[in-house]
Amino acid sequence: MSQRPSHASDTTSEPAPVEMDAVGSRASDLPLLECAPSQRPLIEEVLEGLTAEEKFLPAKLHYDHRGSELFERICSVEEYYITRTELGIMKDSSEEIAESIGSGAMLIEPGSGASLKTRLLLDALDSPAAYVPVDISRDFLLEAAEEIARRHEVEVLPVWADFTKAHPLPEADGEVEGRAIYFPGSTIGNFTRAEARDLLGRFAEMVGANTSGDVGGSVIVGFDQKKEIGRMEAAYNDAEGVTAEFNYNVLDRLGRELEADLDRDKFTFRAEWDEEVGAIVSRLRAREAHEVEVAGRTIVFESGEPIRMEESHKYTREEFEALAGQVGLGLDRVWSDPADDFAVARLV
Ligand code: AVJ
Repeated sequence: MSQRPSHASDTTSEPAPVEMDAVGSRASDLPLLECAPSQRPLIEEVLEGLTAEEKFLPAKLHYDHRGSELFERICSVEEYYITRTELGIMKDSSEEIAESIGSGAMLIEPGSGASLKTRLLLDALDSPAAYVPVDISRDFLLEAAEEIARRHEVEVLPVWADFTKAHPLPEADGEVEGRAIYFPGSTIGNFTRAEARDLLGRFAEMVGANTSGDVGGSVIVGFDQKKEIGRMEAAYNDAEGVTAEFNYNVLDRLGRELEADLDRDKFTFRAEWDEEVGAIVSRLRAREAHEVEVAGRTIVFESGEPIRMEESHKYTREEFEALAGQVGLGLDRVWSDPADDFAVARLV
């Protein structure tokens, strides 16, 4: 299936003000490795999804400016346990996680945000050689990278790239004694099982290559664990309706950025557990039969017809271990919260 990742990690910090240079993109003193992703035009991706047999929209469409703000609000709604639980794990275990990574490491964060979790890990690491945030959103990347550079004694080497594709790593000034990937936030949950496996495979290559001798690399990844269905569904159907708004915003966004007249009032929102897929699947459903125009194309909705908006995959430890095993990674350690809701795994 063709659902795409979000590239968003949850930002638990205040965004810094953005300075623009003459051409309208952000200037920075940090060395930026540019692997400028050739982005597919929005219109193509949207039409592909809306003309498919089972309509869908790529999950990453949630994260325009308003959507990113809404996601931050989701992170603190009562029912959405993920963010606060993972933060708790990091508060309790960042020393141990840092120790497992070792000293002099290059810490690579795909889909980085200037998150509190990353800062906790950087604080706990013993003389990290470099911090390498990788993100597709150039301005957001530089903003986050500068924030880290201001607050931490570490060489910050941002990479502008699509982390789902192969990209080179920057050279650090100091000696790199090992590499670790940090992939928190259950970002991996937005990938299908097959995509997640491939992604872990690429991560394994990235940290394994270039590490000499017995200084092995590691992948530290946060994933959400399967639990009582009611709790998982509640997390994506919050009573305040912030998650519904997060999804309706995608329709509004298409109206703002494309010639599309999708009317949010003609859809209902619901996120449901799909046992077979092992994911919460979020959908908007047409309240009635109607037609919309998207860039001159007519899209027909039948009454009750869904648009699949997002999948949020959940794993048992055994499932996650098996997934990692498919690309030759072993589950070395798992850190969890007292209720064992969320897991931060170390793969080697
Ligand atoms: C950012 C992918 C971890 O799936 O839990 C939250 C996104 N969507 N509420 C998730 C999300 C609706 C989130 N991830």
